[in-house]
Amino acid sequence: KPKANCLKFGCMSNHEIIAAARPNAEWWRTAVIYQIYPRSFADSNGDGIGDLPGVTARLESLASLGIDAIWFSPFFKSPQKDAGYDISDYKQIDPLFGTNEDLEVLLAKSKKLGIRIIVDIVPNHTSDQHAWFQEALAAPEGSAARDMYMFREGKGANGELPPNNWQSIFGGPAWTRITNTDGTPGQWYLHMFDSSQPDLNWDNPRVADEFDDILRFWLKKGVDGFRVDVAHGMIKRAGLPDATIYDENLRERSISNLTMAEAEEQVPYWGQPGVHDAIRRFRRVLDEFDDRAFCAEASMSPLPRLAMWVRPDEYHQAFNFDYMTTAYEPAALKKIITDSIVEYAKVGASSTWVMSNHDGIRHATRLGIAPEHTPRPGDGIHPTDPAPDEALGLRRARAATAFMLGLPGSSYLYQGEELGLPEAWQLEGKYRQDPTYARTNGKRIGRDGCRVPLPWEADATASNGFNTTGESWLPQPANYRAFARNLQEGVAGSTLELYKRLLKERKAFGMGSGEFRWAEEFQDKNTLAYINNGVLVIFNFGPDSVVVPAGEVLVTTQHDLTVERELEHDQVVWIKL
Ligand code: NOJ
Ligand code: CA
Repeated sequence: KPKANCLKFGCMSNHEIIAAARPNAEWWRTAVIYQIYPRSFADSNGDGIGDLPGVTARLESLASLGIDAIWFSPFFKSPQKDAGYDISDYKQIDPLFGTNEDLEVLLAKSKKLGIRIIVDIVPNHTSDQHAWFQEALAAPEGSAARDMYMFREGKGANGELPPNNWQSIFGGPAWTRITNTDGTPGQWYLHMFDSSQPDLNWDNPRVADEFDDILRFWLKKGVDGFRVDVAHGMIKRAGLPDATIYDENLRERSISNLTMAEAEEQVPYWGQPGVHDAIRRFRRVLDEFDDRAFCAEASMSPLPRLAMWVRPDEYHQAFNFDYMTTAYEPAALKKIITDSIVEYAKVGASSTWVMSNHDGIRHATRLGIAPEHTPRPGDGIHPTDPAPDEALGLRRARAATAFMLGLPGSSYLYQGEELGLPEAWQLEGKYRQDPTYARTNGKRIGRDGCRVPLPWEADATASNGFNTTGESWLPQPANYRAFARNLQEGVAGSTLELYKRLLKERKAFGMGSGEFRWAEEFQDKNTLAYINNGVLVIFNFGPDSVVVPAGEVLVTTQHDLTVERELEHDQVVWIKL
């Protein structure tokens, strides 16, 4: 006989359900979390790379935007081969970004402003410059030092072939052969990303001990939580069997078409069931501290599979990448929103929503690309691709965000999207730094186009106020000037003022934890409408205008709507019923 609560909440004990359903006691359930990519936010010392004092000096601008928390991409000590996702010391801030004291200053100021801070933890791999890996290289085969990582013998008569067929996410084989200290060829090590990012061996309890310690170190410093990098990849299938579906094919054929069993079987390095024990251990450490949260970067599909990462004793939430990559089209959007709310509720979690981050094409540009020309996630727009329609992209991006920010749950924003910033997709090859570019000989252009430093004050310097010297680790394209923050501040109809208004009304009406329902009575075939805590939100996908029902207009992406009351294509309105 099935347990009574299985249908509504999944199979959870009463105790778990009570904890999970505790109405919005936890801040992360409704938070709007702003992602800072530290090297591109604000540069205090003029070396062309953003840093922590730069962020501290600009924190008021985020307080006035109305966000609840910041998630920082990694700022730890790193050779910067993958922009900080290659960490050589988990307890030190990289001198490029400042000092541990700089972080303390930032934490103190953000606390005063009521902004929480989430930092990025990278447990799947370290840098090859980490002391653990250097020790492993110097130590003999089969030693405890080697067992921190995934070293294996090669195949072939002389071990000259990689141990299996796994491919790096950045292109090329996922294995590199080392040279022994005596100059002879040695074992191979696994790296699901760049060869400078060796994968840790999570079957070794010493690895878990080290990470317990790292988590506690930052929790004691007062961080409010962690975004967990490659949360789906930490555990590999025992015996490291060949993938029966190659990554190149995976990129063609969405993993969401596979059943859970097929995905586990065919992709032996993602989403293996053993990962849940490691997650529960993380959670126990976090729960030693009050009020902290995890957000998992678990690239898992479909949603019921991802929901297993956010069960009550696992991560609190996970990025909703299926939502981010959904087609710009009413039926698809409606389905993914409904599925997200339902599937997460089954495990007592709230949904997250996200449109942009540092790994994808900025949505102000992405939504201006025809579906058939849209590059795969992580690839970037190639300078020889057809040019995106930037005006349409921005219009759609503003509408998509206005629709997203009225939904119940937690939303993630990526720095610069509040300016409507486009992708810098025409960067010259000589500037490109994403390992994907080098590992595929430029075939896949990579992610640099969404990582260009922010424009703050138009013409203040060559970098539009990113710093006082005009230096910039990636050059801003000429069109960035027009998006500078100072040109939008206080300007009615600007994207910045739109975001501020959305966040203000969202909070005023408690929409993050509101009563949500689809409002079919206000919908036709080219519109979507929902009601959340008494606010009616209508999205017109066009091509025709629609007449907006009576009621006070709280926010609209269409500047002149209050006069005409005709909502044009690719526009959104919030109405107080
Ligand atoms: C996901 C991060 O978001 C991405 O930027 C990074 O390259 C990989 N994980 C590897 O750490
Ligand atoms: Ca700097």
